[in-house]
Amino acid sequence: MGPRTLQTTNQGVLQLNKIGVTYPGGVVALQSATIEFRKGEFAVLLGLSGAGKSTLLRSLNLLVRPTSGEVVSPEFGPLGPSKALRQHRRQTALVFQHHQLIDRHTALANVLTGRLGYHGTLRSFFPLPRVDLELALHCLERVGLADKSMTRVDQLSGGQKQRVGIARALAQQPTMILADEPVASLDPATSEKVLGLLRQICKEDGIAAVVSLHQLEYAQRFADRIVGLAHARIVFDGAAQDLSESTLGEIYVGHRRPALVPDDRNNGHARVSPAFTAEMEMSV
Ligand SMILES: Nc1ncnc2c1ncn2[C@@H]1O[C@H](COP(=O)(O)OP(=O)(O)O)[C@@H](O)[C@H]1O
Ligand SMILES: [Mg+2]
Repeated sequence: MGPRTLQTTNQGVLQLNKIGVTYPGGVVALQSATIEFRKGEFAVLLGLSGAGKSTLLRSLNLLVRPTSGEVVSPEFGPLGPSKALRQHRRQTALVFQHHQLIDRHTALANVLTGRLGYHGTLRSFFPLPRVDLELALHCLERVGLADKSMTRVDQLSGGQKQRVGIARALAQQPTMILADEPVASLDPATSEKVLGLLRQICKEDGIAAVVSLHQLEYAQRFADRIVGLAHARIVFDGAAQDLSESTLGEIYVGHRRPALVPDDRNNGHARVSPAFTAEMEMSV
């Protein structure tokens, strides 16, 4: 792809404008990334390990500080160490690979921590208001875990824990959800359920989802938009059906190129062969 210019829309929730990230020590992890993420869109960051997915994702709420370029919220303006950043972070929820829940607390208590950003620090020492409790219960209901609200998280399965992680994110009433490899620790059947649920909820609520994955097959199945990364650059930005063999070659550079096979289940659009997906999973 040639140099990108920012295409803004009135659906935009966050823009990266020529973002570069060089880590201390000199590793260039992201170069001139220009992209806008939109309301209700399920965007998947696809790329090999080391391509820059986590760096891009973390720069979206300045957990990683870009060394060049600007992160701009259409609502709050350019993000820096300021009120704009606090406001943006409050409505940007994170979902992690290892869910980062407090194991010895109940599912409900974990989901309630999603409300803390809305209260002052003192509030965390006192019970949260009843509306927060009701909201947290509703979020657990939406991920199908209403009956597990009082269960300690260490009693839950991997898939259930990740659903609690999604409920906690939802309790933040976010406009944007950032999920870094949210299914990397789950088996394929559970992964599909979790991604399907996340996608459905983001659609229903108009949340912009940015989800990093290394499995092309999941990206093709769930993404509205695939953002392919290789060697610190965005090398593809478009719909799954527009991924060509040569683009895949770029994204999976150095690895055997995946064979696209026509697939009836996908309206005749090409999909990657299952054997390649299995190989990718072994290699990361
Ligand atoms: N905190 C860090 N300090 C130095 N280098 C880092 C740091 N985090 C990531 N990197 C390097 O930046 C590059 C991109 O990493 P990352 O964004 O984690 O890729 P991905 O999530 O696609 O695996 C890699 O070369 C990685 O080793
Ligand atoms: Mg990563």
